[in-house]
Amino acid sequence: MRKSMFIGRVRQVWLWFTLGFGSKLALQNSSDFADRPIKESAYELLFHRAMGFAPYGDYWRSLRRISATHLFSPKRVAGFGVFRETIGLKMVGQVVSTMEQNGVVEVKKILHFGSLNNVMMSVFGRLYDFGENGGEGCELEELVSEGYELLGIFNWSDHFPVVSWFDLQGVRKRCRKLVSKVNVFVGEIIMQHREKRGSGAASSVYDADFVDVLLDLESENKFSDGDMIAVLWEMIFRGTDTVTILLEWILARMVLHPDIQAKAQSEIDRVTGGRPVTDSDLDSLPYVQAIVKETLRMHLPGPLLSWARLATEDTVVGPHVVPAGTTAIVNMWAITHDERVWSEPNRFNPDRFLTEDVAIMGSDLRLAPFGAGRRVCPGKALGITTVHLWLAQMLQKFKWVEAGSVDLSECLKLSLEMKKPLVCRAVCRA
Ligand code: HEM
Repeated sequence: MRKSMFIGRVRQVWLWFTLGFGSKLALQNSSDFADRPIKESAYELLFHRAMGFAPYGDYWRSLRRISATHLFSPKRVAGFGVFRETIGLKMVGQVVSTMEQNGVVEVKKILHFGSLNNVMMSVFGRLYDFGENGGEGCELEELVSEGYELLGIFNWSDHFPVVSWFDLQGVRKRCRKLVSKVNVFVGEIIMQHREKRGSGAASSVYDADFVDVLLDLESENKFSDGDMIAVLWEMIFRGTDTVTILLEWILARMVLHPDIQAKAQSEIDRVTGGRPVTDSDLDSLPYVQAIVKETLRMHLPGPLLSWARLATEDTVVGPHVVPAGTTAIVNMWAITHDERVWSEPNRFNPDRFLTEDVAIMGSDLRLAPFGAGRRVCPGKALGITTVHLWLAQMLQKFKWVEAGSVDLSECLKLSLEMKKPLVCRAVCRA
């Protein structure tokens, strides 16, 4: 079945499940679909100069290459393990103190700060303080939250040019205000790096972090200051909420399924023998990994593969001709909930991944939470390693129990979030 319709001037096509897997993979992998339609908010927020919305071409290719080498390489992701562990332990401490103060914990805020710090460390080579009295970290968190909200808004201006003149929803105005703040914030960090490089001192715990890499390219006239700000801002932005939202869903599931939680905890205890869990334990925790996969299946952060793809040329997908300029969206949520693909799709059952090894990095479209093909998420290894480690740390330290009921209602913004934030109790395990 193919559904197609016009919204304003944009032709949208949903390629549903009855297109065979081969066709859907062709869609994801084909260079004919390697472009992205750009929303007004993404444009206003500078993202056309960042990787995610950059048109398919040399500029986008060089961004992918640079980040694959200097930000997301296995060596670099592994090298940051010690910081992930430290940030995870800090979050554990925050859960303890919140429980002492309130008797319950709303996990999302804690996860958001942790996640933001994790990205800041990977990209800028420094950690931020998110004290209760505000400060730089809190300012950054507000910028990210505002950007996330703006990108998630259904903006009529994207579909009706006439409406766009009036900016009826005020999206453009808010974007411009935000961009001027981001320019100051990120611009300051770039300036600090320049000064340190000038003085010969290392600008971060790493001799050359991602900002330094971009500065080297700038000196070769490959990037302007504006480009750098866009690229850095996008990394902060993308790496933060995806991880936060996924972990909140997982913890909600742990609260709802104490038997599954207990099984994961005994796996962690058996592997660690009581010492703190580390990155190097993760390969020995298949059940913890299965929980993450099952949550990705049931509560996919990007249910429509997060972002649409744009056909650059007339192309054929399965039996259909898709004209150039068509926005294509694969409905991954429908696939991960289809009983022809998954037995008992509405039952939360991590064990299914113990009996069958399903790859989640983009080669198996039954479950492709990071997308697939040329535009597949470049931060997937960093994202999934972070989620595995922090989940293991949270389960090792606490038993997660209900405080009132857990509401699994969904809310689709830029990602698929919990409509009502998870509030629960975290009881310290002996
Ligand atoms: C659990 C964590 C994450 C999930 C579920 C996720 C999911 C996704 C998805 C579905 C896409 C679109 C792929 C497509 O069109 O086929 C994407 C793209 C992208 N992601 Fe992630 N992501 C995660 C973590 C991260 C992290 C940690 C970073 C960086 C710090 C990141 C940076 C990006 C970028 C830059 C793109 C755009 C790639 C392009 O268009 O070339 N993501 N992600």
